[in-house]
Amino acid sequence: MTRKKRKTREAATIHPRNKYAENPPDFALLASLYPSFQPFVFLEPRPRIDWTDFNATRELTRVLLLHDHALHWWIPDGQLCPTVPNRSNYIHWLEDLLSSDVVAKANRDRGSNVRGFDIGTGANCIYPLLGASLLGWSFVGTDVTDVALEWAERNVKSNPHVSELIEIRKVDDTLDGLTTELRSNVAVDNERKIMNGMDGREVGPSPPSSSSKETIHSEKRYHGPPILLGVVKDGEEFDFCMCNPPFFESMDEAGLNPKTACGGTPQEMVCPGGERAFISRMIEDSIVLKQTFRWYTSMIGKKSNLSFLISKLWKVGVTVVKTTEFVQGQTCRWGLAWSFMPAGRKIISPHVTNKSVSSFMLEGLLPQVSAMSILQSVERFLSAGGASCKLNTSSFTVDVTASNDHCRAILENGAYEVDKGASGVPVEKSEPQPSTDLCFRVSVFQQIPGTLLVKGSLHHKSSPSSGSFSQIFHRLEEFLKAESCKEKVL
Ligand SMILES: C[S@@+](CC[C@H](N)C(=O)[O-])C[C@H]1O[C@@H](n2cnc3c(N)ncnc32)[C@H](O)[C@@H]1O
Repeated sequence: MTRKKRKTREAATIHPRNKYAENPPDFALLASLYPSFQPFVFLEPRPRIDWTDFNATRELTRVLLLHDHALHWWIPDGQLCPTVPNRSNYIHWLEDLLSSDVVAKANRDRGSNVRGFDIGTGANCIYPLLGASLLGWSFVGTDVTDVALEWAERNVKSNPHVSELIEIRKVDDTLDGLTTELRSNVAVDNERKIMNGMDGREVGPSPPSSSSKETIHSEKRYHGPPILLGVVKDGEEFDFCMCNPPFFESMDEAGLNPKTACGGTPQEMVCPGGERAFISRMIEDSIVLKQTFRWYTSMIGKKSNLSFLISKLWKVGVTVVKTTEFVQGQTCRWGLAWSFMPAGRKIISPHVTNKSVSSFMLEGLLPQVSAMSILQSVERFLSAGGASCKLNTSSFTVDVTASNDHCRAILENGAYEVDKGASGVPVEKSEPQPSTDLCFRVSVFQQIPGTLLVKGSLHHKSSPSSGSFSQIFHRLEEFLKAESCKEKVL
């Protein structure tokens, strides 16, 4: 990627409230203020550090935390060294989730005090430190290794202004058998409901090549210490959990990025089954813990895991799924959030991007999937929210008319909650009213074998509902990818 393109992409994805969005770290200034940072800064041709030097990246993190957040911080050699701008993005995304009314606010007696749970806080304890200092949030930060627990504690104690807000909790890995039993009882029950359609929530069709049951059982299972179940105490409630999971299945897979040296021990980077298994276990735990957390969230390192996990989430009956992209330099990560809270009222903002044409590719299609079956899926997805759909088999298009209520039902309830409004009240199937309705066409084009292009064109850009077009189209993309592309089946 050229530097110009990278800069544009980064600017587009760094959170606007991130301290570094407008003002990236000024290495020359930091070097002049902090003598210990000076030896790591090259001033010519422009101020920079050697990103392949662990000591340089660690010292940069130390001075940024001190200079911008008044935090005293350190980690031992080789431990994962966080980049402050990148970790701040996750905190600001959580802040957005908490302030949105996509799901109902928790009815708790803690006033406005936000309480978070950081799974695998690491020796660096970066998320609790940033969340507490930036926003005054309180945290439980968990970990399994002695070095992480010891250094996380030290980093908390070095900062008396936030230390009252952060508890470091050791994960007791002898509990795994017990939590597995609890989870599997719920999983079997849940699976039975999926099979029988007994939970009142209409579940999307299984992929044609395998039944839900096969998909569930063909996953690589997580074997390791408890993550949420068995760590969260009875009666505890949190506004969110967050996680930067061990992404990889082996240190070989983790590799060494020759362009950066951010440390990272096998305990920090690797778990059997990698992030897919780790986050799958978080999802299973969340089925048991349900509204103990208002939002369950995790960072994801591989995009191919995102669609797999989204599809898994819809199957277990979550109310809402949200995703985001975190970009820093050449590293791209994704955020995944889900909730079991009742859906809240969502005001469709007129400021939402008003694009009149959107498109996406469907790659790696399952063998049985054709342009026609995709059109039928489009029709099924949109009519499930109440929209009227006219499928034209000769032009390979679906013409869609959706009222404001239909748009809301499609957006708030996802693909599978088809017959209820935001508050569980049935959505009225009102007659479409052309003057205010959202009208658009979805066209499907054959690309190279195994790949289709799906294009959406808005008819009346000035319609009051047109702001929701991009959101609906994005939701349609998630649905079609989860249903029709190979990635989701292991
Ligand atoms: C990739 S590191 C993330 C560290 C830090 N949160 C960050 O973002 O830099 C993953 C952390 O998860 C911890 N971990 C692994 N399995 C865990 C579990 N079951 N419960 C809690 N922490 C776990 C590891 O010890 C490691 O510290």
